[in-house]
Amino acid sequence: MASRDSIANTLRVSFMVCLVCAIVVSTAAVSLREAQQQNRLQFRQTNILQVAGIYEPGMDLSAAFERVERRFVEFESGNYVDMPDDYDPVRAARDPEMGRTLERDPAGIRRQPKVGEVFLVRDEADEVSRIILPVHGYGLWSTMYGFLALEPDANTVAGISFYEHGETPGLGGDIEKPRWQQLWEGKRLYDEDGEVAIRVVKGAVPEDAPNREHRVDGLTGATITSEGVSQLVRFWVGERAFGPYLDRVRKENQPDGNSDG
Ligand SMILES: Cc1cc2nc3c(=O)[nH]c(=O)nc-3n(C[C@H](O)[C@H](O)[C@H](O)COP(=O)(O)O)c2cc1C
Repeated sequence: MASRDSIANTLRVSFMVCLVCAIVVSTAAVSLREAQQQNRLQFRQTNILQVAGIYEPGMDLSAAFERVERRFVEFESGNYVDMPDDYDPVRAARDPEMGRTLERDPAGIRRQPKVGEVFLVRDEADEVSRIILPVHGYGLWSTMYGFLALEPDANTVAGISFYEHGETPGLGGDIEKPRWQQLWEGKRLYDEDGEVAIRVVKGAVPEDAPNREHRVDGLTGATITSEGVSQLVRFWVGERAFGPYLDRVRKENQPDGNSDG
């Protein structure tokens, strides 16, 4: 009988321990995958309801989300298009056919999908009460992911939120603080000529600034993150992203436009 301390026995025992651990870890990874996906979905739904201003702690998320319609928008035309339910714009951006490389890239995202998603929140009368756009772009250290909520006029900001970023807590990380996010409410994205006019400035917007409705205070000590948010919002509401779509919605909202949303 081989000695318990022999090299062969040591290797055999090590191998068995590794095998058992590998089985435990891979079983856990596979069995938890669905729960993780479910958590991710709920986290996203919570963020969308929060930025829409209808989230309450403990609410039934899937029931509340029935008021939210997910639509797909072709950026170039601004028209709605049909896509499969599992369409993922982030993955599409990386695809050679479904995405494109940005030569001018103010948001620091390198590639963008040709088709994006919007979330339309409906009120009790089934009218669209919020248009929610997913937005992302680079700050100082990280890509910041968030949502921009607009009033049905497709111009007035109803809210902004960031749910994922790696900016410094207390500096750029304050983009996730309600105190700063509230400064966006009521600001207007476009000027009278339909040009993107919204901008985050360094420091506070002067009381007498003529364009106050298009200006948001920058975060103190975090000008680079603030400028990153400014650039990413301007990019996503601009002509290469949701601009043509929002332009169409604004025109349809005018008294002589039709309003099929
Ligand atoms: C440890 C450390 C972390 C920082 N984190 C951020 C940050 O998250 N966002 C940011 O814009 N600036 C950050 N800064 C500051 C920038 O380097 C830069 O000084 C600042 O953006 C300039 O803004 P200000 O002109 O408002 O001071 C950090 C600086 C240090 C030393």
